[in-house]
Amino acid sequence: MRGQCQDSALAGGVMAVLEQGTPVQMIQLLQRPWEERFRVCLGLVRLLHYLSNSPLGSVALLDFQPRQFVMVSGELKLTDLDDANAGEPACQAHSDCLLCFPLRNFTALCSPHGVCEGLNEMRNLYNAYRYFFIYLLPHQTPAALKPLVDQIMNATGELKQSINKTLEVFEDILHVYKSGMYLRNMPISIIKDYAVLKGIGTAGNMEYKCWLSYSHQGCVLSVYNATEAALICNSHPQCTSFSVSGQKTWTGRLLASFRSGFSHLVPDVSSTVYVRRSKASAAVL
Ligand SMILES: *[C@@H]1O[C@H](CO)[C@@H](O)[C@H](O)[C@H]1NC(C)=O
Ligand SMILES: *[C@@H]1O[C@H](CO)[C@@H](O)[C@H](O)[C@H]1NC(C)=O
Ligand SMILES: *[C@@H]1O[C@H](CO)[C@@H](O)[C@H](O)[C@H]1NC(C)=O
Ligand SMILES: *[C@@H]1O[C@H](CO)[C@@H](O)[C@H](O)[C@H]1NC(C)=O
Repeated sequence: MRGQCQDSALAGGVMAVLEQGTPVQMIQLLQRPWEERFRVCLGLVRLLHYLSNSPLGSVALLDFQPRQFVMVSGELKLTDLDDANAGEPACQAHSDCLLCFPLRNFTALCSPHGVCEGLNEMRNLYNAYRYFFIYLLPHQTPAALKPLVDQIMNATGELKQSINKTLEVFEDILHVYKSGMYLRNMPISIIKDYAVLKGIGTAGNMEYKCWLSYSHQGCVLSVYNATEAALICNSHPQCTSFSVSGQKTWTGRLLASFRSGFSHLVPDVSSTVYVRRSKASAAVL
C-alpha cells in the first residue's frame, strides 16, 4: 500500500492507494528458476518479520492464500490489508492458545498477562510454510544450498524456530548463493578446458533446452561466474560452448547461455564466448 486518505465529505469513506501487480500464479511460479522462487519466499519472510515486529505489535494475516498477494517485478507484495489482526489473542489457559490447521495443531503459551504469546507469528509462519515454502523452495534447490533449505523446511513445518531465526537463515542462503562460496570445493580448474573469446557473440546458434531455464527457447541459467558455467556445460552432454553477457539476475548473478553449437562468431562488446576445447572441433568455427 502506498497510502490512504479519508474523505470527510463521504461519511467514513476511505480510499487506499495500492500498487498494481499481477496475481500470484502458483503453477507459473513452479516453472520458474529456483532463484526466482526463492525471491518470492524471501520477500514473504521479510514481510512476516516486519509484521511480527510492527509498531502495532505482532500482526496476523487471517486469510493467507496466495490470492491475497500480487507480484510486482518478481517481488511478492501483500494486497489485501483488511484481514489482519493486530495484537495477540487473549487467554486464560494454554489450551485457549490452540492453533488449528487441517493437518497439524500447535499450541502457544498463555502469558501471565493473559495473551497467547507468539501465536500471530506462529500462524503466519506455518501458513507461509504450507502455502508457499512447500511448493516453491525444495524443488531444484542448488546442491550447495540444500542443507540450509532442508533446515528451513524442517523448522518451519514444525514451528521450531522464530521468524527472526528463519529470516536469518534465509539471509544466509542469499549470502552463500550471491558470494559463490559454495564453489570452493569444486574442480575450478576445468575453466582451462575452454577457449575464451572476449568481445564476441555467436550467431546461428543450435540451442538445446534445459530444466528451469530463464528462456523457453534455449538453456539460460544463473551462474556465479564463468567457472560455475563451465561446470554446468561439462555436465550437459550437448553443451559445446556458452556465453556470458552483462545480463544479471536480481541477486546480481550472471546469466549464461549454453548451446550445442553455432554457425559463426560476431563482434559483441558485451559478450564473452567460452568454447569447450575437447568439443571445439565439433562446432563450426
Ligand atoms: C486439532 O484440534 C482440533 C480441535 O481440538 C481437533 O478436532 C483435531 O482433530 C486436531 N487435529 C489434529 C491434526 O490433531
Ligand atoms: C529434517 O527432518 C527429517 C525427518 O524428520 C530428518 O531426517 C532430516 O535429517 C532433517 N533435516 C534437517 C536438515 O534437519
Ligand atoms: C526480532 O528482530 C527484531 C528486529 O530485527 C527485534 O526488534 C526483536 O527484538 C527480535 N525478537 C526476538 C524475539 O529476538
Ligand atoms: C569463480 O569463483 C570461484 C570461487 O570464488 C573462483 O575460485 C574462480 O576463480 C572464479 N572464476 C573466475 C573465472 O573468475
